[in-house]
Amino acid sequence: MNLRANPPAVLVTGAEGMLGRHVCAMLESRGIPKVTPSHRDFNVVVDPIDEFLEGQRLLAVINCAAYTAVDLAETHLQEARDLNKFAVKALGGWCTRHKIPLVQTSTDFVFDGTSDRPYVETDLPNPLSVYARTKLEGEAYVAHGWVVRTSWLFGDQGRSFPRTMIRAWLLGKELRVVGDQVGCPTYAGELARIIGDILEVKPSFGKYHATGPAQMSWSDFARTLLTIYKDQHQLEQEINVQSIRTEDWPTPAKRPAYSVLSNQKLIDAGLKPHSSLAECLYSFAVANPPEKILADN
Ligand SMILES: NC(=O)c1ccc[n+]([C@@H]2O[C@H](COP(=O)([O-])OP(=O)(O)OC[C@H]3O[C@@H](n4cnc5c(N)ncnc54)[C@H](OP(=O)(O)O)[C@@H]3O)[C@@H](O)[C@H]2O)c1
Repeated sequence: MNLRANPPAVLVTGAEGMLGRHVCAMLESRGIPKVTPSHRDFNVVVDPIDEFLEGQRLLAVINCAAYTAVDLAETHLQEARDLNKFAVKALGGWCTRHKIPLVQTSTDFVFDGTSDRPYVETDLPNPLSVYARTKLEGEAYVAHGWVVRTSWLFGDQGRSFPRTMIRAWLLGKELRVVGDQVGCPTYAGELARIIGDILEVKPSFGKYHATGPAQMSWSDFARTLLTIYKDQHQLEQEINVQSIRTEDWPTPAKRPAYSVLSNQKLIDAGLKPHSSLAECLYSFAVANPPEKILADN
């Protein structure tokens, strides 16, 4: 493991997760030294951060480690809280004591979805699920750094809505997708780029919303991504996505019906927002040819 980088480095926790992999690639492409422990190398819940980082000079910490199993969290409150709250408390405390900026990733789910306009950073959160509540609790420990809230994340690797949809479509399954929840799909490669830009531009510390530019329902997202995928790989198969209601697809965790986040604060701080969703879906399609999607379990 590259734990004793001599030049100051950026620590990425959750480096092997969906966002973590894109963050590592972003740092690599910018020539920024990085320390990228896996879950096994550095368990942010149990391993003392002081011991882990002894002798290491850091430029920043980007925390991509999280308990992200939204439905499972409903019955695993302690595990979710250990990771989404207490680990952030430890990382946030360490960063504040050492004056090292922390980028903490968080979620649109901190809101209850009753707004009739995109949520801004000063809007009052009201989480509907255990996952969302523990993520909000974690946000409170970021004093020296930035909380970056995102939504509907998909990356080139790891489990995600696009991969699940494309696989089901390729296998000829019936596609019934929720049509009454609206949000903004966000490409993890673009979010990683925005996080890199935040570290460079250093806007004032606080909360920032960073999501994809297009708002849509899950069923419209499925149609959009399948149309682009079909075009990219020149497939013949028909696309037939049936919109269903949330109540027709019951899940243990409640989700907000509307979780569009305004990115205006980010733009006002001089940062370039997420680029076109279509462009990102074409990148995703190139990185995920049918044979790769079908080989996944
Ligand atoms: N996915 C979304 O749609 C979405 C939406 C909004 C916000 N977010 C936020 O975006 C961030 C990244 O999410 P993601 O989807 O990339 O998550 P992810 O793919 O589930 O990755 C989470 C990472 O955390 C690691 N991890 C778990 N427990 C750990 C521990 N005790 N110590 C160290 N590492 C541990 C995991 O390692 P193992 O796999 O080895 O356990 C994994 O690499 C999170 O803050 C999440 O809340 C995600």
